[in-house]
Amino acid sequence: MTDRTPKKKRGRPRIHPDARSARAAASRAYRLRQKQKRQKKTAVYHRSQSDDWYTPPELTQMILRGIGRRVFTLDPCAPADPAHRVVPAEFYYTQEDDGLSRSWKVDAAIPPPVVFVNPPYSRISAWIDKCIDESRKGVVIVALVPSRTGTRWFERAVEHDAIVAPIPGRLRFLRGQLAGSLSPGDAAPFDAALLIWNPELLCLRGAAPRVGQG
Ligand SMILES: C[S@@+](CC[C@H](N)C(=O)[O-])C[C@H]1O[C@@H](n2cnc3c(N)ncnc32)[C@H](O)[C@@H]1O
Repeated sequence: MTDRTPKKKRGRPRIHPDARSARAAASRAYRLRQKQKRQKKTAVYHRSQSDDWYTPPELTQMILRGIGRRVFTLDPCAPADPAHRVVPAEFYYTQEDDGLSRSWKVDAAIPPPVVFVNPPYSRISAWIDKCIDESRKGVVIVALVPSRTGTRWFERAVEHDAIVAPIPGRLRFLRGQLAGSLSPGDAAPFDAALLIWNPELLCLRGAAPRVGQG
């Protein structure tokens, strides 16, 4: 006698075509939501990178003390709103002046000119090229940059004689959208470093009179 009981089907249970397409649609919608979330995050990051990171005054004060100056000669990428200008300088170039197209070799109260640059991160490569050009004119430059040592612009800076001073810890940049409302933000989500061109011009100037007076 033959066994007529139906055989159990093996493997994955069959899914009804309607259920399958509903599942595919749900998964597509999930992937789209994730992508939109990622894009939103990146957009916020890039927007804030472009011009909303103002230098913590403790850092500029420390640099000024180190070089024996009260103020820098020039901030070539200064905020348009004077209330947001936290870098002490004799001269400022704003976006309207276009610090990229102007000479940084301005008449300093005490030569040589010392320029402090915290560039808009959206065009950092162009600002590094400008630092390199201006450094050839005998301008002392201190640039505060994200410590992205693997990028082409960082490599170019080092190849063109920038000295790298890593900044330990994470800076608390001043943040704010409205006039007069700057306040320290959370610790930056990136490491920072100073790129310095021509520091020896300052050392030599300082040393010369002392040597002369013997
Ligand atoms: C990262 S913030 C630094 C602000 C300030 N120098 C500081 O250290 O606190 C960059 C600034 O560069 C300005 N900026 C953007 N493009 C510029 C340009 N072509 N010339 C001058 N300033 C510019 C932006 O308006 C923004 O205020």
